[in-house]
Amino acid sequence: MLPEGLIFGGWPMGGWHWSNVDEKTVIRAAIVAAEAGITWFDTAPVYGFGMGEERLGRALKSIDSPVYIMTKFGLRWDTDGVPFFETTFNGQKRTVVRNLSPESIRNECEASLKRLKVDSIDLYQLHWNDDRTIFVDMAGVLVRLKEEGKIREWGVCNLNTGTLHLLVSAGLKPASLQFQYSLLNRKPEKSLIPYCRKHNIRFLAYSPLGRGLLTGNASTQRIFEPEDDRKYWKPEKVADINRKLTSLAPMAKQYDISIPALVLSWTLNQPGVSGVIAAARTPAQAAENAKAASVPLVPDDLSRISEWAGRTVSGFPS
Ligand SMILES: NC(=O)c1ccc[n+]([C@@H]2O[C@H](COP(=O)([O-])OP(=O)(O)OC[C@H]3O[C@@H](n4cnc5c(N)ncnc54)[C@H](OP(=O)(O)O)[C@@H]3O)[C@@H](O)[C@H]2O)c1
Repeated sequence: MLPEGLIFGGWPMGGWHWSNVDEKTVIRAAIVAAEAGITWFDTAPVYGFGMGEERLGRALKSIDSPVYIMTKFGLRWDTDGVPFFETTFNGQKRTVVRNLSPESIRNECEASLKRLKVDSIDLYQLHWNDDRTIFVDMAGVLVRLKEEGKIREWGVCNLNTGTLHLLVSAGLKPASLQFQYSLLNRKPEKSLIPYCRKHNIRFLAYSPLGRGLLTGNASTQRIFEPEDDRKYWKPEKVADINRKLTSLAPMAKQYDISIPALVLSWTLNQPGVSGVIAAARTPAQAAENAKAASVPLVPDDLSRISEWAGRTVSGFPS
């Protein structure tokens, strides 16, 4: 079983880099997504430094339908490694390092299984490469974790076509690649998505709503919390995008969905895109977004949205 269709994005569940995150509300959002038919849930240890996985684990206790979990490895804050970035979480400074040693991957896997309270991770993904990784060693430990039943498949995130090709040509083909892709950022259409199609690697689009910028109702007045990078969004840029998105409103109305669901549906219908990972911070957002999975967007409308994006928002900094 590999991910496809609409996937629940679990970054906001951890709170880190987001605003107004309330524990009960984000857990409820995940439950509502499952009730609306979402079967795959994405998270990562670094999302809230363990908190995102723990909260997803709590949500899973209240979900009766079969669901599948994808999480990640490679970014650590509790051991040494190649320095990646400094950040703060709940006012506390953290240094995030990249560590892809087999020992670290195994330790991370055990820790994720505990936080998620599951016996196995359905898709285990390299979060960020460190340019020093010996892929054969990395793949070796992943194969062993698979044999032990601790993971079912492994994938990668954020690799460019050249690095992905290094893996593939070494006979270490991942099941999937996660990369940023949306109406705002269509660069992966040039080489990454075609490469994945050619090699049968599932392309999973992340940040399809531009972290909320592509919803049509991003507020120009909103005051983001200090650790939320969206505080750098310029109100005039948000207003401009909102204005441009109103031209999609008649089409959304015709399909009886909201603009975010229309945007997600376009993303889901792009050639070579296997899955779209969209986050929801509230149950209402989760329910709304889930509608995207069943919208029968006709080819003419897909072309209209693509053409609209080419003229207006593609390349807009997200
Ligand atoms: N592999 C990687 O390196 C990587 C990197 C980034 C993301 N990801 C994955 O991809 C997922 C999705 O990307 P993302 O979280 O960056 O952002 P996104 O899905 O583009 O945007 C999600 C945010 O948009 C707002 N939103 C969502 N639905 C809405 C609706 N119906 N109406 C109004 N606002 C809505 C919410 O923020 P507010 O309510 O706060 O406005 C929500 O938290 C992540 O959660 C994570 O699982 C992976």
